[in-house]
Amino acid sequence: MKTQDAYNHWAVSYDSMPNKTRDLEALVVRDTLSKIKFDKVLEIGCGTGKNTEWLAGQCKKLTAVDFSNEMLEQAKQKNKASHVRFQQADITKPWAFEKADLVTCSLVLEHIENLSFIFEQAADCLLPGGHFYICELHPFKQLQGSMARFEHEGNLVQLEYFIHHLSDYFNAAKDNWLTCVDMQEWFDTDNRNETPRLCSLLFKKN
Ligand SMILES: C[S@@+](CC[C@H](N)C(=O)[O-])C[C@H]1O[C@@H](n2cnc3c(N)ncnc32)[C@H](O)[C@@H]1O
Repeated sequence: MKTQDAYNHWAVSYDSMPNKTRDLEALVVRDTLSKIKFDKVLEIGCGTGKNTEWLAGQCKKLTAVDFSNEMLEQAKQKNKASHVRFQQADITKPWAFEKADLVTCSLVLEHIENLSFIFEQAADCLLPGGHFYICELHPFKQLQGSMARFEHEGNLVQLEYFIHHLSDYFNAAKDNWLTCVDMQEWFDTDNRNETPRLCSLLFKKN
């Protein structure tokens, strides 16, 4: 099943099904971004709006983008603030979004093959001094078989994914003059001998 179709089907159950990755990322985004200031936000791959309301509470203007209309519908129902705008778009195509001082991307890049293109577009879209936040399933976790999946009509649907290593993120950032100002690995428990579930990266445009 194509990723866009899969998310259209997944949308109704995305918030309610147990999902450790989704829940941990909700904590990570708040922890990481509460340390910086921003006014204009571009949230790419906003999904059902898990982070949209919190982000909206921290900024003056927010554009939340996704290519799944059904995911966007869920997000719209939760977020009615007048400074929040939703837009249907495929982020693998050239971006035509307003400039922002924060671009966020939570659990999206595992579905995107060409990381360089995303970094190029994000860097273009950022105002000087702006930040690019990324949080993804850790590549080690992916190598152990973790991936986005859900049940649909009694069948397990596994979404297409790509593995991006930490060096891939660093190199894509370097090529676009983005500096890494924070990098963390996030675990399910306090036991750091386990495989980290998530990695988060915060880049700054010079
Ligand atoms: C795992 S969900 C994450 C949603 C939300 N950011 C969160 O953390 O809960 C991934 C989202 O990325 C969106 N997505 C995947 N590929 C995309 C693309 N090429 N363009 C726009 N959105 C995309 C999907 O539709 C889906 O809503």
